[in-house]
Amino acid sequence: MHSPIKRIGVLTGGGDCPGLNAVIRAVVKTAINEYNWEVIGIEDGFEGLILPNKTRKLSFTDVRGILPRGGTILGTTNRANPFKYEIETNNQVQIIDASDEVVSRASELGIDVLIVIGGDGSLSIAHELQQKGLRVVGVPKTIDNDILETEVTFGFDTALNTAMEALDKLHTTAESHHRVIVLEVMGRNAGWIALEAGMAGGADVILIPEIPYKLDAIAEKMDARNKRGAMFSIVVVAEGARRVDGDMVYQEEPGDGSTKRLGGIGEVLADELRDCCEYEVRVTVLGHLQRGGSPSAFDRLLASRFGTMAVHLCAEGKLGHMVALQCGEISAVPIADAVARQKLVPLDSDFVRTAFGLDISLGNTRRVILNP
Ligand code: F6P
Repeated sequence: MHSPIKRIGVLTGGGDCPGLNAVIRAVVKTAINEYNWEVIGIEDGFEGLILPNKTRKLSFTDVRGILPRGGTILGTTNRANPFKYEIETNNQVQIIDASDEVVSRASELGIDVLIVIGGDGSLSIAHELQQKGLRVVGVPKTIDNDILETEVTFGFDTALNTAMEALDKLHTTAESHHRVIVLEVMGRNAGWIALEAGMAGGADVILIPEIPYKLDAIAEKMDARNKRGAMFSIVVVAEGARRVDGDMVYQEEPGDGSTKRLGGIGEVLADELRDCCEYEVRVTVLGHLQRGGSPSAFDRLLASRFGTMAVHLCAEGKLGHMVALQCGEISAVPIADAVARQKLVPLDSDFVRTAFGLDISLGNTRRVILNP
């Protein structure tokens, strides 16, 4: 039996996303209102439990006014895995295992349960730390919506709306100039943002990592549109998309190449289209605009429900679990199940069928898509 909870910790890890502050606010309010617990905010993800002076007590005052704010008041990083923590000594980068320090630091701070708000990376770390004795509860966040066991993550809806608004604006230029406009969106290895924003924004072609594309399928679609008098096309391409006989495209990074960031497929595709067709092609890369800004009403609500329920999970002793949206209700699922693999777009989903119905090209034939 563990002694009763007096104090919990909260941190945000990985890339920022709209709704993080709404979760922090809900955690602080619920912990104080319902349980009279103290809440310790940990800065910059797990790094806040490795480096000194990166924790602070959070009160009602600290979370006042943060509901509509993007980003995270606690700061975050996607470079601080305690199991592979980089330190620099004598101009040499060394990788050490700082996980024991994290567990003992949390105990020194009197943290009875740590709420980890993160994507699959931070949640996997949380799961490993739980095996080492740290008591954790997870809250899934990511604009990519690629976490298993939850129907949706907060941040995704806001990112979708940002991409959809961009598509509305790109439409007018594409139509006026009779151009093909390619919009590259984020999403890592999953096509959720591209598929759903593309459908909401009336794209003609949507290319996702789950369906490698063929140039002739795209050209066919554009030609068909031209024959019907639409002298422009809008293509949405996920950063993780690739040609059937090609590789994913990564950004050039300084250093030893150990960090790989997706990005650049938009330009690659535009060059391919210029080579094979006569169209005038332009590219827009939406980039981090998708992660910023004020969360939508949907994301504020989901984030608040997640934050409140995460505190209740701590009280109920549901440690090693993550809050999740299932059939419209907030439930608890083992973190281990949620991080087992990434949630990709199922090719037999109604989204894919809807795309077929709307005559959107997904970059390959229906036969190949349904029988990969
Ligand atoms: O996971 C969120 C995400 O925005 C991905 O869609 C994208 O590939 C990645 O993070 C970008 O990371 P960074 O902020 O390190 O460039």
